[in-house]
Amino acid sequence: MRYTGITVPTFRTDIESIGVYIPGKPIEDVMREYGLTDIAKLASNECPEEPFAAVQEAVAAAAAESHRYPDTMAHDLSGALADHHSIDRDNILVGPGSSPILMSTAHAVGGPGTSAVFAQRSFLLYSIITTMSRAEAIAVPLDEDLRHDADSLIAGVRSDTTVLYICNPNNPTGTYLAPEEIDRIVANVPERVLIVVDEAYEEYVTASGHRSALPHALEHENVVVMRTFSKIYGIAGLRVGYALGRAETIMQLRRLQAPFAISNVSLAGAREALRHQDLVAERAKTNARGRDQLAAGCAELGIKHVPSETNFVLLEPEVDAGELTESLLQRGVIVRQFGDFIRVTVGTEPENVRFLETLGELI
Ligand SMILES: Cc1ncc(COP(=O)(O)O)c(C=O)c1O
Repeated sequence: MRYTGITVPTFRTDIESIGVYIPGKPIEDVMREYGLTDIAKLASNECPEEPFAAVQEAVAAAAAESHRYPDTMAHDLSGALADHHSIDRDNILVGPGSSPILMSTAHAVGGPGTSAVFAQRSFLLYSIITTMSRAEAIAVPLDEDLRHDADSLIAGVRSDTTVLYICNPNNPTGTYLAPEEIDRIVANVPERVLIVVDEAYEEYVTASGHRSALPHALEHENVVVMRTFSKIYGIAGLRVGYALGRAETIMQLRRLQAPFAISNVSLAGAREALRHQDLVAERAKTNARGRDQLAAGCAELGIKHVPSETNFVLLEPEVDAGELTESLLQRGVIVRQFGDFIRVTVGTEPENVRFLETLGELI
């Protein structure tokens, strides 16, 4: 919806240039609009399983303490994350999801007269937060295999660039940039540019020789890594994410965070989820099987797909992607369209089967 001609109150003059993040359709909306009762939501790269039982218990217990403000420094969770990553608490900033941390990062380094480099297509939020921080967006195309192109990203950096976003693996393509390419970017981008490596899907990567960009973030003040509890940990609704980096850099990002930003319930849920690395590892294996199931099923149907290192697969149907997305929706399968492509999140095994069968009927 566009509200034009509004004269009061006095909004910033560029407010309408800021994109509104459009999420995948909520289940309730689809049920209401299409009169359906059984939905497979494969649109938002969520975990298809509910939170671990112990997480649900921890959340319920924390709810009883909700009359108190939460620990704004997230002492317990930061300590647990520090142990998990073998780093110090000072290297961690916990936030209410990685999106708000990305947003405060954009504000911390952006502003008029600055620019931000990111790949096109990548996570939509990078463009939104760039405009929000009044910086100029420099969108660099992916390579022909829909991977980040290290050389183009390096070449995209201008003298006024203050931030470079790398989404690895990339959303919405699912593609992966090898660690050596990240090394090359870090080595060739001036230190005055903050390099943000968004590793929201890190735990799903099965590529051999994979390593996180975390060592770079611990070594270089101009590198930070973003992680989230919204994907493999399965608590997207609780909203917890974190940034990893040098203590000095993390301290600056902390300045932009609202006080008491993460609820006590969310902190407790994330703390508990982190304890269950065995279940997390199981989920990664289940996801890899589901990913293969979707890839093989699409190949059987003659639909091209992009090899994925995440919990979703990008398909390139030969029919109109918009119409196909709508037809799937009418049959209770929610996926996400990106131009000529469709992105489908790995669901439970029956959900994957349902998606493939419905797709088969439609094409
Ligand atoms: C690449 C990427 N980064 C960050 C996020 C946001 O995660 P959060 O729920 O922690 O805000 C997403 C969510 O889809 C994502 O795909």
